[in-house]
Amino acid sequence: MEELSTWLRQAFIQLIADQTGLEIKEHDQAALGEKIHQRMKALELNRPEYYYQLLVSHTVESEQEWQAFIVLLTNLESFFFRDQGQFSLLRKQILPQLIQRKQSQKILRLCSAGCSTGEEPYSLAILLKELIPDLEQWNLLILGVDINAVALEKAREGIYRSWSLRGVDQVILQKYFQLEDNQYRLNHEIKQMVSFETASLVKDPVFKPNSKLREMDLIICRNVFIYFETSAIAKVLEKFYKLLQPSGYLLTGHSELHEQNLDQFETKVFPESVIYQRSAKPPIESYGTESYRTPLSSQSTHPYPEDAPVESPDLKLETSFKSKHLKMQQAALALLKQLPANTKIARLNNLTAAELITHLELELNSADLHTP
Ligand SMILES: C[S@@+](CC[C@H](N)C(=O)[O-])C[C@H]1O[C@@H](n2cnc3c(N)ncnc32)[C@H](O)[C@@H]1O
Repeated sequence: MEELSTWLRQAFIQLIADQTGLEIKEHDQAALGEKIHQRMKALELNRPEYYYQLLVSHTVESEQEWQAFIVLLTNLESFFFRDQGQFSLLRKQILPQLIQRKQSQKILRLCSAGCSTGEEPYSLAILLKELIPDLEQWNLLILGVDINAVALEKAREGIYRSWSLRGVDQVILQKYFQLEDNQYRLNHEIKQMVSFETASLVKDPVFKPNSKLREMDLIICRNVFIYFETSAIAKVLEKFYKLLQPSGYLLTGHSELHEQNLDQFETKVFPESVIYQRSAKPPIESYGTESYRTPLSSQSTHPYPEDAPVESPDLKLETSFKSKHLKMQQAALALLKQLPANTKIARLNNLTAAELITHLELELNSADLHTP
């Protein structure tokens, strides 16, 4: 087989980055040459230029070939409840908060982006099954998205080797898996909670026709960006912002976003992990544009009625607390009283609405006493 010229190797590397976001590092370039030759052999092509032409041809054949090539390019390593700390944060704080926020609407939309063979979205499904007692009354979406269609076929089967279940709690294992011929079959009920879509986070449009990937309450994208070029990560972050609902969360692997501009998100630091939150309100200019879509709950006059009181008063409250102005404090009190008592206000040291009401009422009472 013909060797790749430097120029052609660079062209392949660029093409792969544009299509997938994957960065082919210098030490992986020899392996890339072998993968290209492997595909050329399968297709009986004798020149790498022909293979390159096929990949850029925008034909049905080229789409099919990308699928075969991607199988060779992607790393599928995954396992259930990977990163105990992050899953503990989801179980104890993030998911309960989302469930509370969505209690009246009972719609929850979660995405595992770069879900590989399904371990991550199925772990989310198990968590929700454990956390929501009236699950059958909820309209849940747990969507696994991946560029590798072969990985998604395996995900849909829901059969795993014990290696994928390392570290899974015995109670969860007994409850949700059945041991068959040395493999673990996932419960039908959990399998049904998750759907899968093939998509490239980098190449595909933000709102792909017929895709369920929109208006997400939580996007988890872990151990994906580590393989990406910096510019591809920025592009995907921009998309995630648009795909999240106001106040929706983004969880990535640890330190996968260093050097990225995260101005659009609020960074929340927990001992287990950092998590990023889209601002509570859709930006005014984004109404009617692709960054803001008509929500599923379109009967309501407020786009996200259950979100508005929970998250948006943070700033106003902070200002009111800092200000000594009586009217501002009374307004803050009125705002606080609209919130569920246990709502935590991040900008005010995570004190609950109930605690802040007590604090404000005391302040206002003493102000009353001192007013002549
Ligand atoms: C190492 S796995 C991570 C699986 C899982 N998120 C976890 O942390 O266990 C990375 C996954 O990202 C997928 N991936 C890579 N590039 C992608 C892209 N551009 N769009 C969607 N998925 C992609 C790969 O196919 C692979 O399944």
